[in-house]
Amino acid sequence: MTLNIITSNAAETKALGKKLGALLKAGDCVLLAGELGAGKTTFTQGLASALKIKGDVTSPTFVIAREHKSLTDGPNLVHVDAYRLNTLAEISQLDLVTDIETAILVVEWGKGLVNDLVAEPIQITIDHNVDDENKREFTINASAAIIEGLS
Ligand SMILES: Nc1ncnc2c1ncn2[C@@H]1O[C@H](COP(=O)(O)OP(=O)(O)O)[C@@H](O)[C@H]1O
Ligand SMILES: [Mg+2]
Repeated sequence: MTLNIITSNAAETKALGKKLGALLKAGDCVLLAGELGAGKTTFTQGLASALKIKGDVTSPTFVIAREHKSLTDGPNLVHVDAYRLNTLAEISQLDLVTDIETAILVVEWGKGLVNDLVAEPIQITIDHNVDDENKREFTINASAAIIEGLS
């Protein structure tokens, strides 16, 4: 199912991320598409706040992947910037400590990433709005349960 949501500032984007984070379970994968500055990292910060993870979420651009341990019994977060990856399967060659199958995987990417790793990722595209530089348009493709939870 698809849901379209517009946020008017970074705080609203974080709140949307937090709302999604609260709906996720171990093994879920979120693919975030959008150009540089779209708000992928901002959204991930909100998502992470729902997971109660250790450490600040920053752009993983220079490290490809950051692993955040949960401070609770909940799943850990693996935050990937796929800018230099061609396929998602390359994530499994990154030598991560975290088992992605029991974590939440969030991947920021530009265009043209091949998904050869996860069966049914939540796919989110973030677009700039032409009229307002702070508005962002989210197109969210996910299961009915997730879409219902976000609506
Ligand atoms: N509605 C909005 N949603 C998200 N970020 C916004 C919004 N309006 C302005 N911004 C700003 O845009 C920038 C988004 O940066 P970032 O999240 O790092 O993007 P990306 O990870 O996609 O490159 C931040 O400086 C943020 O404050
Ligand atoms: Mg980013």
